[in-house]
Amino acid sequence: MTRRTIGIAMNGVTGRMGYRQHLVRSILAIREQGGVPLADGTVIWPEPVLIGRNESKIRALAERHGIEQWSTDLAGTLAREDIEIYFDAQVTSAREKSVRAAIDAGKHIYCEKPTAVDLDGALELARHARAAGVRTGVVQDKLFLPGLLKLKRLIDGGFFGRILSVRGEFGYWVFEGDWQEAQRPSWNYRSEDGGGIVVDMFPHWEYVLHTLFGRVNSVQALTATHIPQRVDENGHTYQATADDAAYGIFELSGGIIAQINSSWTTRVDRDELVEFHVDGTEGSAVAGLRNCRVQHRSLTPKPVWNPDLPVTESFREQWSQVPDNDTFDNGFKAQWELFLKHVVADEPWSWDLLAGARGVQLAELGLRSAREGRRLDVPELTL
Ligand SMILES: NC(=O)c1ccc[n+]([C@@H]2O[C@H](COP(=O)([O-])OP(=O)(O)OC[C@H]3O[C@@H](n4cnc5c(N)ncnc54)[C@H](O)[C@@H]3O)[C@@H](O)[C@H]2O)c1
Repeated sequence: MTRRTIGIAMNGVTGRMGYRQHLVRSILAIREQGGVPLADGTVIWPEPVLIGRNESKIRALAERHGIEQWSTDLAGTLAREDIEIYFDAQVTSAREKSVRAAIDAGKHIYCEKPTAVDLDGALELARHARAAGVRTGVVQDKLFLPGLLKLKRLIDGGFFGRILSVRGEFGYWVFEGDWQEAQRPSWNYRSEDGGGIVVDMFPHWEYVLHTLFGRVNSVQALTATHIPQRVDENGHTYQATADDAAYGIFELSGGIIAQINSSWTTRVDRDELVEFHVDGTEGSAVAGLRNCRVQHRSLTPKPVWNPDLPVTESFREQWSQVPDNDTFDNGFKAQWELFLKHVVADEPWSWDLLAGARGVQLAELGLRSAREGRRLDVPELTL
């Protein structure tokens, strides 16, 4: 067995996503399983170097997980030849500068979404990476969720007939921070710091809709800042300048209409934190993070509208669960493994910085649509 070690500078690993999903559940989990095997018997072995601004925090994190290498010097780490990949899960507003520096140092890039705070920045990064000849990847984790993989299986198997519409509900109550701590960092609620639910969630909706149903041709959104004042990590009250809810309508190629509500100001009355209800001529499905239930045309009840009578049947019980028929790994880890294989063994990959820019574009157009109160076309992006 040949071991192919690959050095990865990981920035933003003290954060929610960087720590839990990327470091612990992906890179450390890959090491625990013995690396990523390739078809020729080679095993890819990721060797992380943790990067952070605060020396004591980053050292403590490294020690807690037995990671030997850490640094507060990004430029110095990027200058190392054994570092081949730069990973970024910093706050969105810090991403562009660091990713650009990593491209300049000739590193392959893997990063969180959104890739930049605006479309110009996102496209510029994609162009810069192409000119430098480095490989790039952007996290599109929702595609690897068991519920959405089951939905994809249904689509590929022709279950729906002609798909008519998609209705998505995403959200939960994020506490204001006064009498109970907020469960998301405060920068999410300040647009000047790269926050806002449109910037956060529309990049996800772009790749989910595009990959499963068709390209997004137009967007119409209404946004709101329902909670104008929140309390931050230090107990200080601040003005929420960013949107905390967005009500969007998207027209997709093939005439499919998608509506997605995204909200940090709603209380959950769903089975999962996100659900997509898909209606087709032959059947319908409701897919969440893990589960997916279906109702075929032949099993569709015929309710008659009569407000004078109590409901006579349990509509929820008329759906069937789609079986797993597979084992599903953590979505972030699954995508990391594919990216590592792409870098080391040239395996196929489609979630690059241009794909990331499409997400930023949809967020930007969504916000503009809300500001201008009109539906906007989504132009095709090219490099
Ligand atoms: N793929 C997903 O589902 C998903 C979910 C949530 C967040 N995200 C993305 O991940 C990124 C990080 O989000 P998070 O929720 O982990 O944030 P977080 O606030 O928990 O972590 C941010 C990280 O960036 C670092 N950082 C660097 N410069 C900073 C600065 N100037 N101010 C504050 N922190 C700074 C922090 O030290 C920390 O390590 C964001 O770009 C966000 O959009 C992705």
